[in-house]
Amino acid sequence: MCGIIGYVGFREARTVLLESLKRLDYRGYDSAGVAIIDKNLKVYKEIGEIANVEKKIPQLKGTTGVGHTRWATHGGVTKENAHPHLSCDKKIAIVHNGIIENYTKLKEDLKKKGHRFVSQTDSEVIAHLIDDVYKGNLEEAIFAAIKKIKGSYAIVAVSQDEPGKIVGVRNESPLVIGVGDSENFLASDITAFLKYTDRVMFLNDGELCVITANSIKVLNTNKKQIKKKEELITWDFTDAEKSGFPHFMLKEIYDQPDSIHHALRGRISEMEETITFPEPVEKLLKSEINSIHIVACGTSFYAGLVGKYLIEQHTNIPVFTEIASEYRYFGTRNESSLVIAITQSGETADTLAALREAQLSGSKTLVITNVIGSTATRIADGYILQQSGPEIGVAATKTFTSQIMVLFLIALKIALLQKKLGSDELYNYLFHLKALPRHVRDVLERSNDIIAIAKQLKDAKSVFFIGRGINYPLSLEGALKLKEISYIHAEGFAAGELKHGPFALLTKDTPVVAIVTQDETYEKILANIGEIKARGSPVIAIAEDKDTEIENHADFVLRFPVSSHVLPCIPITVVLQLLAYHVADLRKCPIDKPRNLAKSVTVE
Ligand code: G6P
Repeated sequence: MCGIIGYVGFREARTVLLESLKRLDYRGYDSAGVAIIDKNLKVYKEIGEIANVEKKIPQLKGTTGVGHTRWATHGGVTKENAHPHLSCDKKIAIVHNGIIENYTKLKEDLKKKGHRFVSQTDSEVIAHLIDDVYKGNLEEAIFAAIKKIKGSYAIVAVSQDEPGKIVGVRNESPLVIGVGDSENFLASDITAFLKYTDRVMFLNDGELCVITANSIKVLNTNKKQIKKKEELITWDFTDAEKSGFPHFMLKEIYDQPDSIHHALRGRISEMEETITFPEPVEKLLKSEINSIHIVACGTSFYAGLVGKYLIEQHTNIPVFTEIASEYRYFGTRNESSLVIAITQSGETADTLAALREAQLSGSKTLVITNVIGSTATRIADGYILQQSGPEIGVAATKTFTSQIMVLFLIALKIALLQKKLGSDELYNYLFHLKALPRHVRDVLERSNDIIAIAKQLKDAKSVFFIGRGINYPLSLEGALKLKEISYIHAEGFAAGELKHGPFALLTKDTPVVAIVTQDETYEKILANIGEIKARGSPVIAIAEDKDTEIENHADFVLRFPVSSHVLPCIPITVVLQLLAYHVADLRKCPIDKPRNLAKSVTVE
């Protein structure tokens, strides 16, 4: 977590840095700060929102600077712990994302040499390490400093003695160069500078770059200059705007008819009855696969659970889903297993660690991610882009549904390769997949029904979500969405499990949201609803339009359209997202930035 930005060019750095930090604040919002070279180095930092810093910075003419938005790891949320951190003479400023594991020892050594520390952070040692060896050349000093550091970092630094230049370096934390005309950028991610440029260069671990308004120099660990490819980003700047919606989350929920369509774009052909992925992915899927292990965190993990049902339903390959932080230490692995890592950001530290672990043990690795050039894409043997467009709200929405779409395409592709799927069936699936954006639009148009139910839930102390089969992971995701943005305690359960413990918690004040689809589990879930009602708990069913029976069982019903039962989980998810959103909105919660959370968790 933490977002960093560096700017050098012809514009006032103040405006660019603040603008960019606002785009990065999903990475952390405990405190923020900037350092701008305006004759000398000027630093402004405050706890809380970026607006708090904005209020304190006077108009400055300086055109070089760095900025940071923090998600606290080492040291509490205080002004002293906010970045940028400074050298003793206050001429060098650094911003850092990552964790310096050996900072205690480094700090002791530096203190003995006379360095004075003002914060409790691990990051401050970087400023003093650079300071310790600085002789007028920032890149040389940074090369020397990083030799002593153990841990993960993206660092961006400026020196008052070298105005018009910024230096960045990365190891296991993201850092990307934005290439402009007479201006250049360095940031944790593309959205930070997307307003100014769509041309980027991705840095690899160990690479250091020196940037001025008119030049970009990238050096490898041996200090040898290397040539970097410039890439063009297809994301539109307006995709990273709220576009009139009160929150990014709501905008991103409403993006889904498009993002679902984009997940299919360039991959399916009804005419040729094929599903096509990039060559490295094709190669992976055609190789001998005895088992699939899906590794991921948070919402991406729940997409993985949905994927397990989809792949096992269509192929004969067993799928194991593992929370990335657990797989890293305890997962089973072998050479004929395919490890699929799902990570929207492509930067989640636990997922990257699991991916590296899988590679070390000889497994084949595939990544599903939304971010081109992200670290995950550079570790894995192949990657599939979700094509969802930028997601800014901390609570994942459109990226979840896109991940499910991609997983379904993988399931169908393997089924085709295994000759378990005929061309007629494939045609039928593809036809119905293309109807999903319309179904999602239908759900969005019914948001008033969802608001009415949200009013019933908004004062609940605890809400349960239940489902069977593929609806079980949806119940987990529905509960996660509600708890993270509304702060109401919520749990998801496989419906059959309630009677093995959670029943003890049911009272008339515990609403239960039941996901009901008219498949082989239908009778069973109706029975579960009966059991719940017998305990006096109100039941809200999320049910198909065509289900005429459900009203006799549930207290309230929210409807979704289906056609031929191809991924009803997509419109159901949108109902769950809107429900969580409206409950949180009625409770006046900070929806896009829930307390203590960050969108991209780049520490283990
Ligand atoms: C954080 C976010 C979640 C996200 C998870 C995994 O916890 O708050 O919304 O699902 O990270 O992120 P990833 O980028 O790996 O999908």
